[in-house]
Amino acid sequence: MANILNGLIVSKEIKQEIRAEVQKIIANKRRPPHLAAILVGNNAASKAYVNSKVKDCEEVGFTSSLVKFPATVSESELLEKIQELNKSKKIDGFIVQLPLPAQIDQEKIIMAIDPRKDVDGFHPENFGKMALEMDSFLPATPFGILTLLEKYQIETQGKHCVIIGRSRIVGRPMSILMGRKDFPGNATVTLTHSYTKDIEAHIKKADIVITALGDPYFLKADMIKENAVIIDVGITRVEDNSEKGYHLAGDVDFDSCQKKASWITPVPGGVGPMTRAMLMKNTLIAYKTSVYND
Ligand code: GUN
Repeated sequence: MANILNGLIVSKEIKQEIRAEVQKIIANKRRPPHLAAILVGNNAASKAYVNSKVKDCEEVGFTSSLVKFPATVSESELLEKIQELNKSKKIDGFIVQLPLPAQIDQEKIIMAIDPRKDVDGFHPENFGKMALEMDSFLPATPFGILTLLEKYQIETQGKHCVIIGRSRIVGRPMSILMGRKDFPGNATVTLTHSYTKDIEAHIKKADIVITALGDPYFLKADMIKENAVIIDVGITRVEDNSEKGYHLAGDVDFDSCQKKASWITPVPGGVGPMTRAMLMKNTLIAYKTSVYND
């Protein structure tokens, strides 16, 4: 039976540490950190994510602002708002919730964010620094996974890590981070994607599997190696007959995999709450390094 990598417990500890730091900041008569979020359109999952970020800010003692635009917003309006947030002395970090509508060039938007306020770690300057093992903001989900591995002292050195999915938010940065000269890191990494041939042959050889596919219950026990470490980043809304009308499903068939794995993340309560906590951590880092925080 696998041990649980409990993101709920670890994220609570991290948020408590952040809250304690914020209380000291306030006791010293300084303003608390401020995170802003830009939300475009009506995507239900995006709205839920952004609302939970606002709630997390309240919990740790940050102030926050939510800037909403209709799905019809123009690229120039969005760029103008980003410039305003870049210049604001009261905002330490901000995120632009992805995905954006088709008329908006996502790369142009991300490039416009001041890297010092890019608490998502999506700007090429931060991404490049991450790849070169320089100090930078790390994207929240990969940062959360690294923190979980570190807290539970999961050995990664020399291990074979198979990552499923090469998104800019999870798979690609994760593939870089697991190969860095660090702990957690020093792994041999295989980054698989939609063109990978015989993905199951790769997964079967993995000591660590990190799946960010968005395909509910894709990973079954017969696909993994005995004692593998299984990290499930998938969170898909699956419609059902419940009051809510849906439940959240991971990429992993937890019930079968937990019998074979050594460590496993549940969904919910695994990577999701870690992502949220690490965004708070990045915002605190942005605040501490900001030239405007006094
Ligand atoms: N959409 C899904 N995950 C994320 C995230 O971590 N940051 C942003 N900005 N958008 C997302």
